[in-house]
Amino acid sequence: MNILVTGSNGQLGNEVQVLAKQHMKHRYWFTDVAELDITDAAAVKAFVTANKIELIINCAAYTNVDKAEEDEATALKINADAAGVLGSQGVRVIHISTDYVFSGDEHVPCREDDVVAPRTAYGRTKYEGEKRLLAVCPEAVILRTAWLYSTFGNNFVKTMIRLGKERQELGVVFDQIGTPTYAADLAQAIFTVIESPIWRPGVYHFTNEGVCSWYDFTLVIHELAGVTTCKVRPILSEEYQYKTPRPHYSVLDKSKFKKTFDVEIPHWMDGLRRCMKSLNS
Ligand SMILES: NC(=O)c1ccc[n+]([C@@H]2O[C@H](COP(=O)([O-])OP(=O)(O)OC[C@H]3O[C@@H](n4cnc5c(N)ncnc54)[C@H](OP(=O)(O)O)[C@@H]3O)[C@@H](O)[C@H]2O)c1
Repeated sequence: MNILVTGSNGQLGNEVQVLAKQHMKHRYWFTDVAELDITDAAAVKAFVTANKIELIINCAAYTNVDKAEEDEATALKINADAAGVLGSQGVRVIHISTDYVFSGDEHVPCREDDVVAPRTAYGRTKYEGEKRLLAVCPEAVILRTAWLYSTFGNNFVKTMIRLGKERQELGVVFDQIGTPTYAADLAQAIFTVIESPIWRPGVYHFTNEGVCSWYDFTLVIHELAGVTTCKVRPILSEEYQYKTPRPHYSVLDKSKFKKTFDVEIPHWMDGLRRCMKSLNS
């Protein structure tokens, strides 16, 4: 298959590049905004036609939650308009969405057909992207994920390691519950979809297994990174003073993905251990 990967320089895009080496029966075109701006409809069409692309894996997105609040128009262009552009090419699409489509007020894991109620500009634009994509490409696969980290790019894991080494004390919120997800495991989920003998369109939830707060996550990050000189203190979200409100509970129910593709998903601690090993090597 001829596969176009967008947003290849991001956390997930890089992990897809790594895993693609184990799936060399396909041909890949790894692009980021410099090679292919997904908001440029003419350029996308020309690229897909010229390279006879059969599948698009869309790892590109406007992911800065705070900046999206100030510039929702740009976030909408990248997260929603471009999803529609990619969906209009007459080829299969795997697209990534987010737990931010939900309100975060739940107390049980969210299922794919639960009512969405995004509370942020980022969440609104990502949900709009799902709708625009499905309107033109009902055969698309949408994977909603959460709390992504990777050996690539900047993320919570790397920030906590750095702050843990710099500071003697650190306050981290304990009233936001979710599931840290190793982008390499999400990349594996993407290949599970691709290699499935039958194309199974639809919206799916995919994160690692388990739940924790950012505070619990930090304790394990420090333990695995050998950070022993920083006292981590649990704080409330209101003490952190986020520019943009964050969901309090954004655990995703992954039953549909596991049942459809007959897979087990690694626990977040297992993912974190592998990421740390990779960071240290
Ligand atoms: N990170 C998380 O915690 C999280 C949580 C839930 C869901 N997700 C979703 O998971 C997916 C992957 O996230 P990620 O963390 O890997 O994102 P990321 O690291 O921010 O990577 C996104 C990539 O897309 C590129 N991009 C931006 N605008 C583009 C355009 N117009 N054309 C082509 N490429 C463009 C970015 O380039 P620049 O850096 O130059 O802008 C970046 O390289 C996204 O759909 C995101 O919404 C992420």
